[in-house]
Amino acid sequence: MTLDQIPSMPSPPAASNLHVAVIMDGNGRWAANRGWPRLVGHRKGVERVRGLVEASPELGIRYLTLYAFSTENWKRSTEEVLGLMSLLSRYIKAEAKRLNKEGVRLRFIGDRTRLEPKLIKLMDWIERQTEANTRLFLTVAINYGGRDEITRAMRLIASKVQKGEILPSAVNDALIAEHLDTSFLPDPELIVRTSGETRVSNFLLWQSAYSEYVFTPILWPDFTPENMRAILDTFRSRERRFGGVKT
Ligand code: FPP
Repeated sequence: MTLDQIPSMPSPPAASNLHVAVIMDGNGRWAANRGWPRLVGHRKGVERVRGLVEASPELGIRYLTLYAFSTENWKRSTEEVLGLMSLLSRYIKAEAKRLNKEGVRLRFIGDRTRLEPKLIKLMDWIERQTEANTRLFLTVAINYGGRDEITRAMRLIASKVQKGEILPSAVNDALIAEHLDTSFLPDPELIVRTSGETRVSNFLLWQSAYSEYVFTPILWPDFTPENMRAILDTFRSRERRFGGVKT
């Protein structure tokens, strides 16, 4: 009998309460491949978000974090930026009922100060509407950048130190994590990026210290829950194999 066959060995805690974060890439290419405007790709991308949110609990995902708009995305054309913002607003308005029905708590990370007041209001509203739900914790990153998040956290900590509220010697990993946008989330076990790009692109820089990365060539508008299931199966079998010796 090998060690991992001993019945009393607990299964890894990550197996059914996973935090999976996704860099949803490839919307523009998906549309361009069909001769369509980029926004059509983003619209199809929203449908894929809906599908994955619905499938997540059954896939064993408890926390799903999606990169919807980065601090760098402002460099895109005005048409595309406004289009993306409008898709986000529409998603929030259209999804409230379904999220509550499916037990999904929706929250946002990123710097809200640069966003339209109307969108900020909607974000606050849906966060309140869904705050009692616990089946799936969905987090959407809007105007999010890992460096920007760490910079804002550092500024906050520095001002508390200056006011004498915390000692410099009290600044440690845990205190920094508490000041990040993600203070309410565990670190992700797995980060998936679609479309074949193999970059981290400023996503969850602090939180990904021990995350596993999976890069898939599938473009986001083609990415189905079955594709996620296959990625998770591979991830879990890797976890099981290394489960006994992981530190
Ligand atoms: C990257 O593809 C994708 C984005 C910048 C936007 C992602 C947004 C959505 C899928 C819709 C809104 C999300 C929610 C949560 C409702 P790209 O345009 O950079 O693709 P490309 O690299 O092929 O150009």
